[in-house]
Amino acid sequence: MMRISELTVRFGSFTAVDDVTLAVPPGTVTGLVGESGSGKSTLARAVAGLTPYRGSVSGVARGRVQMVFQDPYSSLNPRMRVGDAIAEGSPASRGRRDAEVARLLGLVSLPASYARRLPRELSGGQRQRVAIARALAAEPELLIADEITSALDVSVQGAVLNLIRDLRAELGLTMLFISHNLAVVRYVCDAIAVMRHGRLLETGPVQEVLAAPAHPYTRTLLDAVPSLAHA
Ligand SMILES: Nc1ncnc2c1ncn2[C@@H]1O[C@H](COP(=O)(O)OP(=O)(O)OP(=O)(O)O)[C@@H](O)[C@H]1O
Ligand SMILES: [Mg+2]
Repeated sequence: MMRISELTVRFGSFTAVDDVTLAVPPGTVTGLVGESGSGKSTLARAVAGLTPYRGSVSGVARGRVQMVFQDPYSSLNPRMRVGDAIAEGSPASRGRRDAEVARLLGLVSLPASYARRLPRELSGGQRQRVAIARALAAEPELLIADEITSALDVSVQGAVLNLIRDLRAELGLTMLFISHNLAVVRYVCDAIAVMRHGRLLETGPVQEVLAAPAHPYTRTLLDAVPSLAHA
């Protein structure tokens, strides 16, 4: 079980993440929601080892946490071919490299021939698929998706969300899934964790929390999505 215990991140005198304790059971997806600036990305970066923190993260080995970011245009090296970008994080031996890259491209429903392409030769949705394949190459124990569909055209957002659901079923992924969109969280996640001002306000099974939020702030978030509040 991946456990975040009493995790705090400070930037100078400002506390961006304040004493957060959260467990993510293996093979499940926890949605992390909350208004802009509530500390979601900072918590994610701390768990991934990209930001110093106080407290502890246990149940995942160092280097086995992978992140996929919002902007697939800046997260891929523009000069690196797709196959090299994916292979970089893979433990596969040199001899198995091409087969492994083809397998990973297949997992994200891209043709093996895309290994030879450069990022600029891909659409935004395809780039995000490559970013996901690259994250999967490292065989992550925890995959963190930080607003991975927000920068994409609406027409491809659904396909990327379906891909996440398929991968999760196929690979038994354990995920922290950050999103502003509660409808998306309900579609993709088992559990939900609500953050505000760096603190974890409420957590629980996604259906339960969305049906009967314990905290007034969660209700406020829900009221911003009328179709969900009455669903
Ligand atoms: N490197 C940094 N130095 C100083 N302050 C930072 C740094 N990174 C983040 N912060 C601050 O920490 C707070 C939380 O930021 P964070 O990016 O975690 O929010 P978020 O919940 O991901 O917001 P959004 O939904 O807009 O992505 C913000 O007030 C932000 O300005
Ligand atoms: Mg963020």
